[in-house]
Amino acid sequence: MTTISDIEKKVQSLKETFDHSVTDIKSVSELEGLRVRFLGRRGHISELFKSLEMLTPQEKRGAGKAINDLKNNVQTIIQDRKATLDEGEDARLKIDTTLPGNRGYIGRYHPITTVLRQIKSIFHKMGFSVVEGLEVETEYYNFEALNIPKGHPARDMHDTLFVGNDIVLRTHTSPVQVRVMESQKPPVRIISPGRCYRRDTPDATHSPAFYQVEGLCVDEGITFADLKGVILTFAQSLFGSDMKIRFRPSFFPFTEPSAEYDFSCLMCRGKGCRVCKGTGWIEISGAGMVNPAVYKYVDYDEEKYTGYAFGMGVERITMLMYEVNDIRLFYENDVRFLRQF
Ligand code: PHE
Repeated sequence: MTTISDIEKKVQSLKETFDHSVTDIKSVSELEGLRVRFLGRRGHISELFKSLEMLTPQEKRGAGKAINDLKNNVQTIIQDRKATLDEGEDARLKIDTTLPGNRGYIGRYHPITTVLRQIKSIFHKMGFSVVEGLEVETEYYNFEALNIPKGHPARDMHDTLFVGNDIVLRTHTSPVQVRVMESQKPPVRIISPGRCYRRDTPDATHSPAFYQVEGLCVDEGITFADLKGVILTFAQSLFGSDMKIRFRPSFFPFTEPSAEYDFSCLMCRGKGCRVCKGTGWIEISGAGMVNPAVYKYVDYDEEKYTGYAFGMGVERITMLMYEVNDIRLFYENDVRFLRQF
């Protein structure tokens, strides 16, 4: 038998339990659990309403009011508590600077690309335009028209990858010289950056695919002094006015006279170290005055025009710039390496 005083006692004890539980609540989800236990369809308060059925109508009114008061009370407290908890959680989200951020990944240029862009910009200021060559070339442009006929020992220096009869992956950017001179008359002042290929076994200083920048300037009255001036201006624009250059006599069939040119070693400031193998100098590439033999292939008047050409090893310059000691790092696509630039 349920009596009115049973119900009143129950109301009182539920109120105490609720008041006690609500003080322990620390999160919105805990609060929701408490709400369901008290106000849910099968919660304590619904159960109490159901037990009213056993009472007389008069008793019902009195007890019903007590339960209603409890219900309203519980509802108000839960609402208030929810408001403070929400505020607290918002505030915590706003000020918790210890949470690791959601950093989006931002791409960047490959170091070789960065250096190529700088090279282009420096030559652009000196009046050179940029032309694109072909990575797959004919033997004619890669060798023949550069005065390197079949069987010439100079071909030995280029471990060539043939992709067909007379078709090669270019071993240097020099074939662009021929293509440019074929298609335009002097004055010519171009650079041509791009990939080249040689059948080299990769090691710290060799990669079977690598970048060169070719340079070519042909006009009336061009001399070796112009070549030196342009290379020096380039080197100092890229590395600063301390940079020194030197030319050493060398041989290329398509230039005469020919030279190899070096930049002073930045690691040791020319004193001699492991990187420059104790010499104080880092070899960049070859250069020289365009051999009149080449003008014959492109129908230039060798009496009227002179010019210079130079190559440039882009990886070498990049390694010098960023103190990278192994060329293979550029081509392994290891983001731990690439993200440093
Ligand atoms: N093409 C030559 C090489 O790859 C470099 C070079 C370019 C030399 C232009 C002279 C003039 O070794």
